[in-house]
Amino acid sequence: MNSESAIGVFDSGVGGVSVLRNMARLLPRERFIYYGDNLNAPYGTKSEEEIRTLAMHVADVLLASDIKALVVACNTATSAAIVQLREKLTIPVVGMEPALKPASQMRRNGKVIVLATPATLRQKKFLRLYELYGQNAVIRPCAGLMEFAEREELEGPGIEGYLRGCFEPYRNEQIDAVVLGCTHYVFMKKALSSVLPGVPLVDGNDGTARRLEFLLRERSLLREAGEGGITFMTSGNSEECIPLMERLFQLEI
Ligand code: DGL
Repeated sequence: MNSESAIGVFDSGVGGVSVLRNMARLLPRERFIYYGDNLNAPYGTKSEEEIRTLAMHVADVLLASDIKALVVACNTATSAAIVQLREKLTIPVVGMEPALKPASQMRRNGKVIVLATPATLRQKKFLRLYELYGQNAVIRPCAGLMEFAEREELEGPGIEGYLRGCFEPYRNEQIDAVVLGCTHYVFMKKALSSVLPGVPLVDGNDGTARRLEFLLRERSLLREAGEGGITFMTSGNSEECIPLMERLFQLEI
């Protein structure tokens, strides 16, 4: 493994492609291998133990390509498995967490709403974050929402109906910001903005890309020359999943 090696990135499915976009933009010389565990998606309604086992397996698949860093482009897998991944791997491991800290700075007199998977929201990692930055924040576990991105239903009555139901309890309240605490939800910004016009939508993708850059620079692992590139892999049906990942990579959000 050296600076020429690729960076491994994974998610339960296509959601981590939203993080990959930020990383590829910031680090255009890098080669990325993106792995979507589509066969086992969703992670967010599974137990911690199941998620951890799946994440460790995906890490092994990526390590076989001699990667120089691993990005867990999934809030759910980060909260269930980041400690074990860091214990096991000797390369830098970058994780994600719902961007509640920056969103808490946008709070005025209203609420901050955190959307994430049930598994992310019930784990200790998130509860600690909530204790620090959760004043006036409410959580909405969104089982079933990531599936809209997996089937490329990013706009229209189906997804908007789901989102309307999700925000219904706050219909008469001021909403200062919405945290997109699952990487799939970043692809749903248009639908979110049509349901909540003008409300800031906050995600952690940029921070993750900058963290990756910092760790690679610190270890002299940044690739200095040559063209970057992306290889997509999936545990699911590659004829369907890989073209979808490619389309999402190009999508205007
Ligand atoms: N994209 C994942 C996340 O950031 C979760 C989706 C799922 O598998 O439930 O949490």
